Amino acid sequence: MPRFRTTDDLDVAGKRVLVRADLNVPVKDGKVTDATRIERLVPTIEALLQKGAKVVVMSHFGRPKGPDMSQSLRPLVEPLSKAVGGRNVYFAPDCVGPEAQRVVSALKSGEIALLENLRFHKGEEANDKAFAGELAALGDAYVDDAFSAAHRAHASIEALARLLPAAAGKNMQAELEALTAALEHPQKPVIAIVGGSKVSTKLDLLKFMTSKVDHLVIGGAMANTFLFAQGQPVGRSLCEKDLADTARAILADAKARGCDIILPDDAVTAEELKPGVVTRTVGINAVPATSMILDIGPSSVARVATALEASRTLVWNGPVGAFETKPFDRATVAIAKQVAQLTRSGKLMSVAGGGDTVAALAAAGVTDELTYVSTAGGAFLEWLEGRELPGVAALGAGAGDETKP
Ligand code: 3PG
Repeated sequence: MPRFRTTDDLDVAGKRVLVRADLNVPVKDGKVTDATRIERLVPTIEALLQKGAKVVVMSHFGRPKGPDMSQSLRPLVEPLSKAVGGRNVYFAPDCVGPEAQRVVSALKSGEIALLENLRFHKGEEANDKAFAGELAALGDAYVDDAFSAAHRAHASIEALARLLPAAAGKNMQAELEALTAALEHPQKPVIAIVGGSKVSTKLDLLKFMTSKVDHLVIGGAMANTFLFAQGQPVGRSLCEKDLADTARAILADAKARGCDIILPDDAVTAEELKPGVVTRTVGINAVPATSMILDIGPSSVARVATALEASRTLVWNGPVGAFETKPFDRATVAIAKQVAQLTRSGKLMSVAGGGDTVAALAAAGVTDELTYVSTAGGAFLEWLEGRELPGVAALGAGAGDETKP
């Protein structure tokens, strides 16, 4: 992890501080359905306000291709204001130019403004220096608190961090510390649980994990590809048969590195994926030709439990079954509860992330009991693939040093 400044290192009294947030939150019928990303931003905003800064929040929302009022950040003013204890949040109907200048220059110390969606301008995704320069004109310092967008080399994340004195916000700091503790300097043995539907989307992650962890549990539909590669019957299950060679290569590589791969040895199967359907739990070599594997079975859960008991650090990405449809949530929920219990008793440091994983932990009612649950999806995955994230790299020592306020 590169060294970087934090908000504690910035002298911001009376200064305009541009805070890159990730307000790309789920919204349904105009209402925010999960405010976690907004809530996690509060400590940074509060810390800056207490130091007398003028806080200018900026973010992307959705994937608009130019100005599109259905993806405006204006509806986020109220939830943001609520999160910061009812303080006024002034809205600028553009993120650069005269409209933004007008709102920002009217701000007093201790006040907050929110700029319109950064992606209304092409320069954002193009990491355009001139656009970053226009953003930089609105601030005296830059704080990146959007770990979940750090995998995007976009202007407000990458180029801008090089134009102003830059620091990591508290959420960014917490994410990086948790992920570093889990993968760079972990207490051993380390276990990873990787689930989800497709091997193809997690190939790099699986390869990197075999070089980092002692136990690797592969669950979800992606396990079917490995089972198929080992000659097991998978019936009508989701399976990427064309990746059988790749799966065998990953298994061979893991063996050579001493990484113990845990694949299911039994499965909960059904003829269709729908709530309350009739299920059959079978040994992994007896999956009926007409059925699909929809969850790992009790023997597999017990093997995961034994590996968890023996581990000190866990990284978890992806449910082990089709958890959105009951009863195929059982194994994921059982594992989540055990992880929570081991974490509570101080035996395990547990880090989880990714949209489905976070939803599964919430369904199991244990979100707050893990050591750290990341709000990031793509950025969390890229970190687990061992990639350098542009947003993190740009915060590294040296960025913006010449202009430290
Ligand atoms: C996310 O929700 O993962 C981040 O906000 C990044 O969004 P993007 O995938 O549209 O860049």
